[in-house]
Amino acid sequence: PALCRASTSLNSCQQGVDGRDKPGHDGKMAVKNPSLIPVSELTAKQAKAEHARLTAEIAQHDKRYYQEDRPSITDAEYDELRARYNAIEERFPDLRTLESLSLKVGAAPSGKFKKVRHALPMLSLDNAFSDEDVVDFVARIRRFLKLDESEKIAFSAEPKIDGLSMSLRYEGGELVTAATRGDGTEGEDVTANIRTLDDVPQKLKGKAVPKVCEVRGEVYMTKRAFLQLNERQKAAGGQIFANPRNSAAGSLRQKDPSITASRPLGFFAYGWGEMSDMPADTQTGAIKWFEACGFKTNPLTRLCRSTDELIAFHRKIEEGRARLDYDIDGVVYKIDRIDWQERLGFVSRTPRWAVAHKFPAERATTVMRDVLITVGRTGVLTPTAQLEP
Ligand code: IVH
Repeated sequence: PALCRASTSLNSCQQGVDGRDKPGHDGKMAVKNPSLIPVSELTAKQAKAEHARLTAEIAQHDKRYYQEDRPSITDAEYDELRARYNAIEERFPDLRTLESLSLKVGAAPSGKFKKVRHALPMLSLDNAFSDEDVVDFVARIRRFLKLDESEKIAFSAEPKIDGLSMSLRYEGGELVTAATRGDGTEGEDVTANIRTLDDVPQKLKGKAVPKVCEVRGEVYMTKRAFLQLNERQKAAGGQIFANPRNSAAGSLRQKDPSITASRPLGFFAYGWGEMSDMPADTQTGAIKWFEACGFKTNPLTRLCRSTDELIAFHRKIEEGRARLDYDIDGVVYKIDRIDWQERLGFVSRTPRWAVAHKFPAERATTVMRDVLITVGRTGVLTPTAQLEP
């Protein structure tokens, strides 16, 4: 049976389950746990403490996710922590220092591989969680580019693959380096491992390839391959992976490339880094060019010409999500015109010209067979739900 953590809050056993305060043993009301107070009601002192607590908690989750490939919370729970952290900094801007997580991407390389400095940083995407957030995203772009309502903006709308991002550097058409995102500035050199992927050409097809060409995209494992791999791992007493993303990351970040070769990994190209020559003037044009070079690109990508079309795309992809053989956690909208992408540029760690419209966490109904309670060294009880897979 699958074992799921029933609670991720560190002190959930001392707090009322419904999140309200309950009297302590001296009969007085316990001090309200700041992590349960809405950001709009935090005092400056509470906000400072809560900001520090979230910084440490998020850093711990980043390490587990990016360096150890074994997260202990869901992506939706992680997004909630980040949203609370950002809301605190928004209300108390003094807390936003140079160390702020809002300026950081991923986690520094683990030391397992040689480091690679990215020619252009590998950044992250801002999230939209609602249709209104998408309307705001388009309105912000219109304002920034000073476009009036009659001017159409075309977007490339594509699934957001839940894998790990990769930068592939080709010089003279030959693959020379493959690097993970790392902290966005420096990644890990996984070239030997990437060479084992069928979806990554060793040499770009075509005659007129730019001298330097960095193709960026996502390495992923299909759901079917993930289940089969876990079966094999179980039989061999090896590591069991939590989800396809972790099994892709764990399979790629192996010291022995023959292990990576035995794991079926796919790659979708969706962007670029340094290019000595740009072979297209639109996002969708560049993606077509990558296909001509020998890459796989996502077949569900569409050109959308209005906010309504973007939102309809999100609905349609979400409806089909469970039937796809790879995990996605949302869709990404990118301004199609590259000259507009360049004018819009970046703000701290995310581009102004793109946004990830996330899906809510996938839901399913199951039976809870039992609750196992473990007692920690200090007497803290941790309940673990035992669920029907
Ligand atoms: S574009 C400037 N397109 O999502 C960043 N990213 O949350 C441009 N991802 O680091 C990224 N599918 O690992 C882009 N179709 C897609 C994507 C995608 C998955 C990942 C990527 C990125 C992360 C940001």
